[in-house]
Amino acid sequence: MASNTPDYALLARQLDALMDSADWLVNAAQITAFIMQQVDELNWVGFYLQRQPELLTLGPFQGKPACNPIPFDKGVCGAAARSRQPQRIDDVHAIADHIACDAASNSELVIPLMREGTLWGVLDLDSPRRARFSEEDQAGIERLVKVFLERTSLPDWLAAP
Ligand code: SME
Repeated sequence: MASNTPDYALLARQLDALMDSADWLVNAAQITAFIMQQVDELNWVGFYLQRQPELLTLGPFQGKPACNPIPFDKGVCGAAARSRQPQRIDDVHAIADHIACDAASNSELVIPLMREGTLWGVLDLDSPRRARFSEEDQAGIERLVKVFLERTSLPDWLAAP
């Protein structure tokens, strides 16, 4: 385990306590702030939500103002949305269609948010350090996303038709 890998089991318990309302907007804002505070070497954490089919719209985030919107056929976030698979990218500059919102970002982790077979959006993490995200980090962030999805009532308008 890398020295800067946080105790994700502890973070999952703390996040569960933080998700004390089922309100998606409150919980989405809280989880981005929580991850930014608890996970080292991040410069951006936030949501892109599928509020229209095949289009990702910027949601609650921490970091610099970001690109909006992102179509499903563009970027690392689009790849995660299309494939519904996490994307763990050690060097974003090696990805031809990576969308560079901030030149400081060098590695990226994107987790799709699924509920009952519908893609609600993605959670995107960026780091200035190459290869920042290990397999343990991916599993840990997926665990935090699971807590968020279990504790949050997502509104109907968010779902793709
Ligand atoms: N780099 C992402 C775009 C979102 S920003 O990093 C906040 C991508 O290629 O999809």
